[in-house]
Amino acid sequence: MLGDNAQGEARDDEVMAIRADDQANAFAAPPPGAVLAMRGLSMSFGQRLVLDRIDLAVADGEFLCIVGPSGCGKTTLLRLFAGLVPPSAGTIWHEGRPVEGPSRDRAIVFQDYGRSLLPWRSVWANVALAYESQGIARAERRARAYALLERMGLARVGEDFPGQLSGGMQQRVQIARCLAQEPRVLLMDEPFGALDAMTRQSLQDEIARLAGESRVTVVFITHDLEEAIYLGDRVVALAANPGRVVETIAVGLKRPRDQLTTREEPAFLAHRHRLFGLLVER
Ligand SMILES: Nc1ncnc2c1ncn2[C@@H]1O[C@H](COP(=O)(O)OP(=O)(O)OP(=O)(O)O)[C@@H](O)[C@H]1O
Ligand SMILES: [Mg+2]
Repeated sequence: MLGDNAQGEARDDEVMAIRADDQANAFAAPPPGAVLAMRGLSMSFGQRLVLDRIDLAVADGEFLCIVGPSGCGKTTLLRLFAGLVPPSAGTIWHEGRPVEGPSRDRAIVFQDYGRSLLPWRSVWANVALAYESQGIARAERRARAYALLERMGLARVGEDFPGQLSGGMQQRVQIARCLAQEPRVLLMDEPFGALDAMTRQSLQDEIARLAGESRVTVVFITHDLEEAIYLGDRVVALAANPGRVVETIAVGLKRPRDQLTTREEPAFLAHRHRLFGLLVER
């Protein structure tokens, strides 16, 4: 067993080696056909290596779910895809271009809807935020926001304030606000984690439908293996300390999926067994 110090030094060496390795790859192209990709991506906070040489490629219109234990670096990974933080090593691409900062083309939905909505703005004005930055006139902003709210079953609460809505409705508003950006990629960080089981299931179906309709590419983080299998075209399992990819499963269940019958399909159960085994063994 290594002492803390020795472990720290070993990690440091590892990070240096990764950096050197990455220099060689710095100009490598992203995998062909990938809308979003990362290659040789490592992330350290101080001495601590949190993500270790992650390679991921997300296809156009794909719904990719990422599961892993708490602290394995899922949120960090999503923030890197969003361009909110730069990696310690490796490259991230969006549509063939290196990600060097945030972009309207990549919207992020946070778990904490309470803090992501502006409490002093009505529901429709929260949704219309994206249109303001595009310089669209007020009447048009309102009409567009209401069209989206209609799609999300929220039109009747358009004039309410976020604090007057249930958790599930607030999370729907946050999703509507992100869709208003018309992003090519939707990055979702445990968006339904704080919701009760029934609300969670109806939002799962809603996001699956919206993703199917708009052909947006989705990267969806969750703790919940069943949620990952139910929603995903593929599921990537991460292990912790340091965060690394241990398995990628192609789900292959037909769409549209059904909360009752899909979850009873032999393939669904087989995926669940496989992922459960992987994640509890580590
Ligand atoms: N800005 C930061 N500074 C220092 N350490 C950080 C920072 N952000 C994350 N970490 C550390 O990186 C590790 C991974 O954090 P992250 O939030 O990405 O995990 P997670 O998989 O999303 O966890 P959870 O499932 O609990 O949300 C944690 O140990 C965390 O303490
Ligand atoms: Mg997290």
